[in-house]
Amino acid sequence: MSYKNYPMVSRVVYGRGSFNQLNDILSPKRKNVKAPFIFLVDDVFKGKSWLTSRIPLSYDDKLLYISAEEEPKTSQVDALVEQIILDYKETPSGIIGIGGGTLLDLAKAVALMLTNKGEAKDYQGWDLIKNPAIYHVGIPTISGTGAEVSRTTILTGPVRKLGINSDYTPFDQVILDPELTKDVPKDQWFYTGMDCFVHCIESLNGTYLNAFSQSYGEKALELCKEIFLEDTLTEKEAADKLMMASWHGGMSIAYSQVGVAHAMSYGLGYLLGVKHGVGNCIVFEHLEEYYPEGVAMYKAMRKKHDIKIPQGICADLSDKEFDIMIDVALSLEPLWENAIGKNWKKTITRDKLKALYLKM
Ligand SMILES: [Fe+2]
Repeated sequence: MSYKNYPMVSRVVYGRGSFNQLNDILSPKRKNVKAPFIFLVDDVFKGKSWLTSRIPLSYDDKLLYISAEEEPKTSQVDALVEQIILDYKETPSGIIGIGGGTLLDLAKAVALMLTNKGEAKDYQGWDLIKNPAIYHVGIPTISGTGAEVSRTTILTGPVRKLGINSDYTPFDQVILDPELTKDVPKDQWFYTGMDCFVHCIESLNGTYLNAFSQSYGEKALELCKEIFLEDTLTEKEAADKLMMASWHGGMSIAYSQVGVAHAMSYGLGYLLGVKHGVGNCIVFEHLEEYYPEGVAMYKAMRKKHDIKIPQGICADLSDKEFDIMIDVALSLEPLWENAIGKNWKKTITRDKLKALYLKM
């Protein structure tokens, strides 16, 4: 057998206030004054000068506010790439994503699609990208997705919700500044934090687990327990630790895979537009059969923080709609193989998934 040869983020800076180093980090990467840096920024920061005034814009640099209300789409990536190509003669010096998983994934995808022909949907899958991306930087402002460290960029396309997984996807530079997460609303904090928690549970209970994944997964899980179940941390300490939990959780699934919750959450996301973090929570409520300890721990966390999870979202769906969700979920074969094993098709039937979706 041959082992995967993983690309990692080339450079990372960590610390409160490290966002102030952005200009020093970017300046040497500017190709020339006509090749701009394009900043893709979550539009929740519109008018929030404590953050936006520190984005170093010079020459033809551009700041684009993008809504993260919906999960990122391949068509959105194509539109951004087209806009950039039309607006500038030169290929940009770099793409900088500032926000949560949606903005980070968009930044990665745009950087890839500026150097690869065709449409983003053509590259959803594993190792379809041919050319290196342009320089791209990720700056998370909410913790948990692991998008800052992953070699994928999850996109909703015309036929599937699937990432552009490639060796060229990871960021060239990440800035981890926990101060940037200070205004995250509590429910978002929880949903996105649970994305990290679920990464740990799915990785640590998967058949793909090895010592590499385990070492990251165990550390991330330990941090999640401290953050979400104990009362020993200050708000700042919890934010610092959650940012590192996200990183470790992402590293853990890099060399293994996610599992049942993610497969089914992608189905909800594809059909109903349910966002990834809350989608994972909606699914995870009903996965005792697969992750008994993890689900018990999750429920204790949800109760402790008094978070409401949407219910009954599948109540009025037609058979056709269930089929669409089931198709999306079942198409993610590596996730099922990791969760259940090589013979997963024997137990994971369409009826089984429909029964689970009906509970949600
Ligand atoms: Fe996730």
